Amino acid sequence: MNITHAIALVTGAHGGIGRAFVADLLRRGAAKVYVTARDTASLADLLAGADPRLVPLVLDVTNAAHIAQAAIDAPDVSLLINNAGYAAFQGAMAAPQLDDARREMEVNYFGPLALTRAFAPVLAASGGGAIVNMLSMAALVSLPVAGSYSASKAAFLSVTRSIRAELAAQGTAVVGVLAVQTETAIGHRLPEPRMAPHEVVTDTLDAVEAGKNEEIAAGPLTQGAYQAFTADPKAFQARFSSRLPHPAR
Ligand SMILES: NC(=O)c1ccc[n+]([C@@H]2O[C@H](COP(=O)([O-])OP(=O)(O)OC[C@H]3O[C@@H](n4cnc5c(N)ncnc54)[C@H](OP(=O)(O)O)[C@@H]3O)[C@@H](O)[C@H]2O)c1
Repeated sequence: MNITHAIALVTGAHGGIGRAFVADLLRRGAAKVYVTARDTASLADLLAGADPRLVPLVLDVTNAAHIAQAAIDAPDVSLLINNAGYAAFQGAMAAPQLDDARREMEVNYFGPLALTRAFAPVLAASGGGAIVNMLSMAALVSLPVAGSYSASKAAFLSVTRSIRAELAAQGTAVVGVLAVQTETAIGHRLPEPRMAPHEVVTDTLDAVEAGKNEEIAAGPLTQGAYQAFTADPKAFQARFSSRLPHPAR
């Protein structure tokens, strides 16, 4: 799809990758960008430039009422960007309790699934449009140091493929974004070197504009990691399996 004149909605718009999405969408000529956040006060500096194309909306992706309201308030969306995410960086076994694991599933799996279900008719009305799902290489490879996060991203990858199949008939393309460590609040817990958010976003929006309807490895670091993964998936997993979380105290 052509992003010039497109109308996008970005979840988690004030985060590191979210901001890069907003900046690149504007640069590519999007007609309107719904910038959404749990607390729209966090969007103040994004909105300070007074670009009339930016429309703030309150959207906690785990809140069913917010999702229903967003589908009413943003009835013209042609590009849905499921970017919001949460990572507790805890081991599946080492975590003291399961609260964070449940939250990761709510934010990283049920939230974008519910939002996509709410916006599927909106996208259909726009002629099909496109969806971007921010996955992670952790969807393909389990990182024990972030074991429950990896599981939530694996679930998100799986449902991304189902959504793609189910929405093909209405002409909606679904780009699933595999990415490795990127310099953001989530990414600063991961080892260096890290990518800049714009490296992930440029490849992602290029893929949308090229009409890709598949998973992509976004950014040069991810492309290197993805090559190593496809060359020998077991060896790649073994590298990460040797890095264990600290036991619960
Ligand atoms: N950085 C990396 O290394 C990396 C690698 C691969 C994939 N990713 C994925 O990229 C996406 C963006 O993450 P990021 O790296 O930009 O991290 P980030 O800067 O921490 O941004 C995450 C964003 O998600 C929002 N969010 C969290 N829970 C939410 C909820 N319930 N409803 C709505 N928004 C919520 C956060 O808002 P609040 O401030 O309100 O919590 C924040 O704006 C995530 O899906 C992440 O898993 C990141």
